Amino acid sequence: MSKSLFRTKKIESIIAEGSDDSHGGGGLKRVLTMKDLTFFGIAAILGAGSFSSLGGAVFHGGPGVVILFIITAIACAFTAFCYSEFASRIPVAGSAYTYAYASFGELFAWIIGWALIMEYSIGNIYVAYSWSDYFTSFLQKINIHIPQYLCTSYMEVKDALASGSANSDLHDAWDKAPIIGGLRIIFDLPALVINVLITFLVYRGIKESRNFSNLMVILKMIVVALVILVGGYLVFSKGLTFNWMPANADGVKSFMPNGFSGVMAAVSGVFFAYIGFDAVSVLAEESKNPQRDLPRGMIYSLVICTIVYILLSLVLSGAVNYQKFDGVGDPLAFIFEKQNLNVAWMQFFVAIAAVVAMTSVMLVFQMGQPRIWMSMSRDGLLPPVFQKIHSKFKTPSFATIITGLVVGLPILFTDKTFVLDFTSIATLFAFVLVCGGVLLIPRKERQPNKFHLPYINGQFIFPLIVVGAMILAKILYGSYFSEMMNFDFSQNPVYTGGKSSFMDLATPNISLIIFWLTAIALSILSFIKKYSLIPLMGLITCLYLLTGMTKSNWAWFLAWLAIGLVIYLLYGYKKSKLAF
Ligand code: ALA
Repeated sequence: MSKSLFRTKKIESIIAEGSDDSHGGGGLKRVLTMKDLTFFGIAAILGAGSFSSLGGAVFHGGPGVVILFIITAIACAFTAFCYSEFASRIPVAGSAYTYAYASFGELFAWIIGWALIMEYSIGNIYVAYSWSDYFTSFLQKINIHIPQYLCTSYMEVKDALASGSANSDLHDAWDKAPIIGGLRIIFDLPALVINVLITFLVYRGIKESRNFSNLMVILKMIVVALVILVGGYLVFSKGLTFNWMPANADGVKSFMPNGFSGVMAAVSGVFFAYIGFDAVSVLAEESKNPQRDLPRGMIYSLVICTIVYILLSLVLSGAVNYQKFDGVGDPLAFIFEKQNLNVAWMQFFVAIAAVVAMTSVMLVFQMGQPRIWMSMSRDGLLPPVFQKIHSKFKTPSFATIITGLVVGLPILFTDKTFVLDFTSIATLFAFVLVCGGVLLIPRKERQPNKFHLPYINGQFIFPLIVVGAMILAKILYGSYFSEMMNFDFSQNPVYTGGKSSFMDLATPNISLIIFWLTAIALSILSFIKKYSLIPLMGLITCLYLLTGMTKSNWAWFLAWLAIGLVIYLLYGYKKSKLAF
């Protein structure tokens, strides 16, 4: 068999291995319908991004953050089409990992599987922290108080104190924490507890999880709709629409008070809000008609959530001046506080819905991770125990417990910002490979009742779009390309929230240079090979979002990939089924 690092798996053999009776334990139960899959999508998408990181996004971008939500939605929609194409051709669990195996080969498949740990497990750490924030503030509303040192992460307290933060809660956590063996005992207990509960639920089985999840989605949609309706009504009735054109530090009124750089500074938070539609694809082996229903589930959930985000951003930025969102972790409740819209009952509802919303996000991701590992194990890239299916519950039991540990242990020594950035960069990277992968698989005949990615010849359209974008950049920012080339590396690339040249943004110029060079190379390739336009657009829009990541995000991510590579060479490369 092949010794190549790029050995690929044949689509037919992936499907054969994923069929119900071909792997031990009788396989997973096929119980999910299209409605369930759409609900799963919404369950995964609407969570910490909208209930928590949206505040920071509005603070950076002002009302103009809506534009980033639209750009990101477009990138995700193109990517969803690519996921759908793969999901309809390869309807087995494993998501982007499986797809890469069929297109780019084993090494890339491993890299994606490795990057997806960031999306599915590390992303859940952010959600668990946010869950804990809302849960503890909900408890406070009903007069139950957990000591600060038991509901804050150690790193957050340490960093805040080191940077001279005046936040009294964090000082309280540090001062009152018990000390054992010289170490202050500070950790986020509710985040740990919710992780244990979710792990237990997922271990027990898909049917129980599905019913619970569907109920949570209905609840959170009702409350999000209330926020939009009540908040939107008050924005108009109280005459607050002037907040959509706020003045920036220089007194200039603008929809984008911090310029486009401010909008792009919110990319991690905004992109995080969209993560989740792809999680639907890991449920291929549990859905009744995956080839028809997976694509629809993904796209429906994405469309619904995009509408929700646009409306929510408008309501938030209309209700309160964008500058007030600095450091606000519960923005949807914040706008209804006394000094803002002043609707006490809404604060209460939002707190409950946030806890529900984030529980459902965690549930979906914690179900997804074991299924990806299960696929990797089937291929020999992970030890066989990862594909063990529980005889009674029919769930990947060992992999589920390991997922619980991978989410639970870092809760003790990471913080929110770190995991948010890490998750977003790794997920975008996976999306880039999925879109690129669709370009590489051969075109197929249209089959009735199955999703089929429409082929639009990108030969001329794509190069025209790239040239058009370059001209637009030049017209909008005369010095765009010269600034890109002459970027001062001594500058601190962290966005300061101030007046803006687009280079103030957390964007090392090197990312933009690579982006434009890639766009030109892709234009030439698409001209020669007549590539399909939809995956090309997915690829280029996700690459563009990646330019919003900071140098330190890249450094951490590349280090993570390097560790993965070493593990692959030491284990997967030798044990891979394709090696024998
Ligand atoms: N999109 C998911 C959330 O916002 C990850 O929680």
